Amino acid sequence: MLPLLHYPDPRLRQVSEPLSDFNEDLHGLLDLMAITMRSERGIGLAAPQVGRFERFFVIDLGLVKGEESKLYEICNPYFEKASGSIAFEEGCLSVPGYGARVKRRRRVRLRYQDRYGKPQLLEAEGLLAVALQHENDHLDGKVFLDRLPWPLRWWHRRKARNSSVAVAF
Ligand code: CO
Repeated sequence: MLPLLHYPDPRLRQVSEPLSDFNEDLHGLLDLMAITMRSERGIGLAAPQVGRFERFFVIDLGLVKGEESKLYEICNPYFEKASGSIAFEEGCLSVPGYGARVKRRRRVRLRYQDRYGKPQLLEAEGLLAVALQHENDHLDGKVFLDRLPWPLRWWHRRKARNSSVAVAF
């Protein structure tokens, strides 16, 4: 289990560096991140959330009813294409107890590298597309609250304080 950084920790604002070493250290960390994500009952976890400021994250939607359980290990992601729009109720393992509907792109085409540095292409839509965008935001030092129109941010923070968030990543 890896300890998580929690909002408003200023380190969550840091922009992560491209990943260059696809070594055993990375593989061990990816394994631990998948374990941590699952035991925290999240569907995604980005390296900055565990204090590592490099561009990679893990996703597994398996906890969500109707979604397939599959582990994605995404390094150095780059959105080549994005279209449509979707609003989904998001939570975040780094912002416990808060949730809000966030508007994002519905379909994305993502170029990335796997844990061995091999280039990969992923076409995604719906919740997987949302999760990819949420995790990529962490690499750019953003949390989902930053995506809300500003007058709503504090309102949502208060409102969600005691509610349990269904999906966190
Ligand atoms: Co998050």
